[in-house]
Amino acid sequence: MKVQVLADKESLGRAAAEFICGQAQEAVEQRGRFSLVLSGGSSPLGAYRLLGSPPFGERMPWAQTHLFWGDERCVPLDHGESNYRAAMEALGPPADLPVENIHPMPAYLDSLEGAFKYQFEIEDFFGRGERPAFDLLLLGLGPDGHTASLFPGSPALSQTEAWVAPAPAPAHLEPHLPRITFTLPLINSARTVLFLTAGEGKADVVHDIMYGTPRSRFYPAARVDPQGELIWLMDAASTGGV
Ligand code: 6PG
Repeated sequence: MKVQVLADKESLGRAAAEFICGQAQEAVEQRGRFSLVLSGGSSPLGAYRLLGSPPFGERMPWAQTHLFWGDERCVPLDHGESNYRAAMEALGPPADLPVENIHPMPAYLDSLEGAFKYQFEIEDFFGRGERPAFDLLLLGLGPDGHTASLFPGSPALSQTEAWVAPAPAPAHLEPHLPRITFTLPLINSARTVLFLTAGEGKADVVHDIMYGTPRSRFYPAARVDPQGELIWLMDAASTGGV
C-alpha cells in the first residue's frame, strides 16, 4: 500500500489527475484501452474537473477510455443525487470521449435488476468467463468506514460470487436511497485501486485503517486488498492533520 498526504483539497485534485493521466497512458500503450471506475462523493470532483479541461484533458486518451461507476444511488441519471451526473458535470464531458464508452449504472431500475444488468455489461466488456480487472478503480471513504456503497454490516459485503450487488438504503447516512455497488471480489480484482479522501470527519477511521487497529476490521474500506496496487491519496484534513 502506498500513502500520500497532500496539503489541501486542491493539491489532492492535481495529484489524482496526474496519477490518472499516467495510468491511462500506460494502459493504452500496453492494452489499447483504459478502463476507469469513477467513485461518488465530493473528494474526487476536483480531479474530474481537471481531467475534463486542459492541460490534463489534452493528455488523457479519452477516445480509448471507458468510464464505469463503482456505486450509484437508485435515481434517474439526471437526478441531483446521481453519482453519474455529478461526475459528468465535473468532467465536461470531454468531446473526444465516445458516448458508447460511458457505462453508467442503470440506477433508474430497482437495485436488484440494476445490479444484474450492470454485471452483464461488465462481463460483456471483459469477456464472459474472464475475471474483470479494471485498470484503475477510484474509491472514497465514508466516516463510518464505508467505501463504494459497501456499508458496515451490509449483506453486499458477504458476496463472494457476484461482481455487482444491490444495497439497501443506508439509514445512518444521507442520501437514504437504495444503491447498486461493486462487491469486494470485483474491487479486489482491479489492477490498481486509488482511494481519494478529502475533508474533515474521517481522521479516526483513516487512523484505524492505516494502523490496522482491531476496530478497522469493521470497516469495509479496510477489506480492499486488490490483486494490483493500492494507493491512498488524502488531504491533510482527512487525516486529522497527522
Ligand atoms: C457515494 C460514494 C461514497 C463516497 C464516500 C466519500 O455514492 O456516496 O461512492 O462511497 O465515496 O461517502 O464521500 P466524500 O468524498 O464526499 O467524503
